[in-house]
Amino acid sequence: MNPRLRFSLVLFLSLALSPAPSLSWKEEEFRNCNQTPFCERARSRTPGSSRLIASKVSLSDGSLVASLVDRDDSSGNPLSLTLTSYQDGVLRLVVDEDPSFDPPRRRFRVPDVVLPEFESSKKLWLQRIAEERIGDDVELSVVVYLNEDYEAVLRRDPFEVFVRERSSKDRVLGLNSHGMFDFEQLRGKKEEGQEWEERFRGNTDSRPHGPQSISFDVSFYGADFVYGIPERAMSLALRPTRGPGIEFSEPYRLFNLDVFEYLHESPFGLYGSIPFMLSHGKGRGSVGFFWLNAAEMQIDVLGEGWDAYNDGKIVLPSSLKRIDTFWMSEAGIVDAFFFVGPGPKDVVRQYTSVTGLPAMPQFFATAYHQCRWNYRDEQDVAEVDAKFDEHDIPYDVLWLDIEHTDGKKYFTWDKVLFPTPAEMQRKLAAEGRHMVTIVDPHIKRDDRYYIHKEATRNGYYVKDASGKDYNGWCWPGSSSYLDMVNPEIRSWWGDKFSLQSYSGSTPSLYIWNDMNEPSVFNGPEVSMPRDAIHCGSVEHREVHNAYGYYFHMATSDGLLKRGDGQDRPFVLSRAMFAGSQRYGAVWTGDNTADWDHLRVSVPMLLTLGLTGMSFSGADVGGYFGNPDPKLLVRWYQLGAYYPFFRGHAHQDTKRREPWLFGERNTELMREAIRVRYSLLPYFYTLFREANTTGVPVLRPLWMEFPSDEVAFDKDDSFMVGNSLLVHGVFNEHAKHVSVYLPGKQSWFDLRTGTPYPGGTTQKLEVSESSIPAFQKAGTIVQRKDRFRRSTAQMVNDPYTLVIALNSSKEAEGELYVDDGKTFDFLSGGFIHRRFVYKEGTLSSYNVAPTASGNARFNTKCEIERIILLGPAGQPKNALVRPGNLKTEVEYGPLQLFGTGSSNVLTIRKPGVRISEDWTIQLS
Ligand SMILES: *[C@@H]1O[C@H](CO)[C@@H](O)[C@H](O)[C@H]1NC(C)=O
Ligand SMILES: *[C@@H]1O[C@H](CO)[C@@H](O)[C@H](O)[C@H]1NC(C)=O
Repeated sequence: MNPRLRFSLVLFLSLALSPAPSLSWKEEEFRNCNQTPFCERARSRTPGSSRLIASKVSLSDGSLVASLVDRDDSSGNPLSLTLTSYQDGVLRLVVDEDPSFDPPRRRFRVPDVVLPEFESSKKLWLQRIAEERIGDDVELSVVVYLNEDYEAVLRRDPFEVFVRERSSKDRVLGLNSHGMFDFEQLRGKKEEGQEWEERFRGNTDSRPHGPQSISFDVSFYGADFVYGIPERAMSLALRPTRGPGIEFSEPYRLFNLDVFEYLHESPFGLYGSIPFMLSHGKGRGSVGFFWLNAAEMQIDVLGEGWDAYNDGKIVLPSSLKRIDTFWMSEAGIVDAFFFVGPGPKDVVRQYTSVTGLPAMPQFFATAYHQCRWNYRDEQDVAEVDAKFDEHDIPYDVLWLDIEHTDGKKYFTWDKVLFPTPAEMQRKLAAEGRHMVTIVDPHIKRDDRYYIHKEATRNGYYVKDASGKDYNGWCWPGSSSYLDMVNPEIRSWWGDKFSLQSYSGSTPSLYIWNDMNEPSVFNGPEVSMPRDAIHCGSVEHREVHNAYGYYFHMATSDGLLKRGDGQDRPFVLSRAMFAGSQRYGAVWTGDNTADWDHLRVSVPMLLTLGLTGMSFSGADVGGYFGNPDPKLLVRWYQLGAYYPFFRGHAHQDTKRREPWLFGERNTELMREAIRVRYSLLPYFYTLFREANTTGVPVLRPLWMEFPSDEVAFDKDDSFMVGNSLLVHGVFNEHAKHVSVYLPGKQSWFDLRTGTPYPGGTTQKLEVSESSIPAFQKAGTIVQRKDRFRRSTAQMVNDPYTLVIALNSSKEAEGELYVDDGKTFDFLSGGFIHRRFVYKEGTLSSYNVAPTASGNARFNTKCEIERIILLGPAGQPKNALVRPGNLKTEVEYGPLQLFGTGSSNVLTIRKPGVRISEDWTIQLS
């Protein structure tokens, strides 16, 4: 046999034998740290290698300023350092090249993320410099006031910035404590013989400005764990990446990429990057560190003993337990924020005071969404819509993926498949439902396409290194990418969403931004070349991680303009950056239909919530692959508690609408979706809490129980607000699940009302009909239990209050209601009540700043049922005031999700409105 023939035969055989296309992550498509020169250089630095000292310290414009100079070498240019205090315990450190020494170009500072009101009104103007000697320092350190409890210190030699408690002088957070700070200054022209270009898999990065990376160490004192820096598919607590006995050898990467079939346990960065890390520890509480920088970042969490080779060069106050981390970025400047906490919710509040609070969604957007790549045509849409009704399954939004367009030209419709898009949307709207279409940032290079024509004429595309419109390959084929960094282009883009411009659109249509990392099929690492050019000569490498953020912003602003600023926008985005919470929801991208991906969705969403992105979800069912019906059911049961709840599937998967798997599975999925609908009043209240405080809807256990150490590392369960604890079932054959119930108070099973003591791990039997969920004793949760087709029909429905009493026979909860649609709530158009149960009496109080019965928003909704769980005694009557109406109370099994056997007390039809003050006294 001739060798050639044999080769092809072997190939044929192995092809025939290989199983169905296996899911695989294309590892070699992406760079690791060793293939990334700045990362490799930075990682080789050792403690004490920084020789910078702070000199010329003075006050300027209410900030502390200094020069950073090399201790041994005065030939280089100094760096400028600025330290500013802000209200609420926020310290900002900026280090950049000193402009008075004429650097070859200005380094990129990320605009449009820090809130203007933060910069303008939260700054504390420093009046004087206090100095002190630390250890045997020759130079004095400078102390800066932060708030009553905390102060910051700039140590001069070696240069270090740290925050400490004022009373104990204990450190809480420090930068360059290990002396690993490095800042590669821009150099004028290439030095002889130096290679500035970089190559990776056939792509060349011309790197015209040479190396310009920054790296430094950050230490979290009193920390048991660190969390944050999404997005990756991994545990909630960040494991060490360097040091003895480490789990991963790669640092955590922050570089927005379209990662095909991502792994479920990997430090590799996915679609979004939020360079914000929080720590938590039993003794000390929480602190946070945020580096505002949009270039590629790599972060090491250093395991105990990582600095064994330090030779005693650096000695830190030894009594303090701490976690050290090492931060590296390819470009940009140091613009870093220290948040002092001390509680987890304080850190999140401090972070969102800088980057913005999450937007308040419309009510419909908090309900269930049905998506698929693709609902084929108008008839398919009508059938899916009708089937939901036929099977009594509520849903609110139907989604259309890329195939609805004419040749992947966004803002157009396929004329054969979707001939009457406006009518299609109006039919859905008549049932109170909405539609979402996809709009991506790659623009088809088609001379007949109006977007392409205008963008070309106006010069609105990102340019390649040679100055031509960058041309890459994406869904439409040859595509160019709008330069969303430019506000003029964003404004132009926003106008494209007007009802006149977007033909076939109606006011009930909302938008989904995908592929905005940006994804470029033939680009380096499936993205845009780093040497592409944005407006103001900004290189793509400098702004990469914020590209999707700007696209999301422009789209959201477009929807705002479309409705004359009346209606709250809804835009879902895959890519994100710090601040994306202001523009809408995000999801965890293209996950896979397997149990591991179901499991990892919990830590992924918890991490997003901690870093501001409260409105987030994972594709229910898993995007790639075909879920077994058992997995699909479990996914609906878990997804019902995701802040963003959407079923979605890849084009190559089988149809999987909830009614396709037999009667019993339909029933189980219907039940799961109904649980979400009944809890919507509670969810909406939590969305408003996130909108006013930054505290996310979904919370890790330790955020609610900060001194319960067992909870610190838990990520198979989570809190929904402060009242509900949910535990997923992540195993096909699970008969039992061990659930840790934190705190000292008890917990009531949501379905049966059975109480369990807190601070215990319960091994619970699980049936197919639900996943474990509990209400915390001492809380009140609001529901709407009448089942409707969509949220529109629920508006006037009465409420159920579920009161879970604690050992002192008390409970409280809040309810927030507004019109669910407009911005009237910003000027007082809402109802905000507190319900308190104490000494046998339930009282309703107004907690809105305006009087109840608010003219801008009111509702006649009543309470139809009050359920008491726990030690209520055996009262017979309920006396309702005002009115002095007496009603009898009932005893019986729990009604809703109704399998209950324990006897609960129910008050039926007390005849009170949720918008009014009243009391109900049990006797
Ligand atoms: C709440 O969300 C709206 C947007 O929906 C935003 O304008 C507002 O600033 C957010 N925060 C507060 C405190 O209202
Ligand atoms: C019971 O709950 C109320 C309201 O949440 C709370 O104020 C009280 O401290 C709790 N009592 C105990 C013993 O935990």
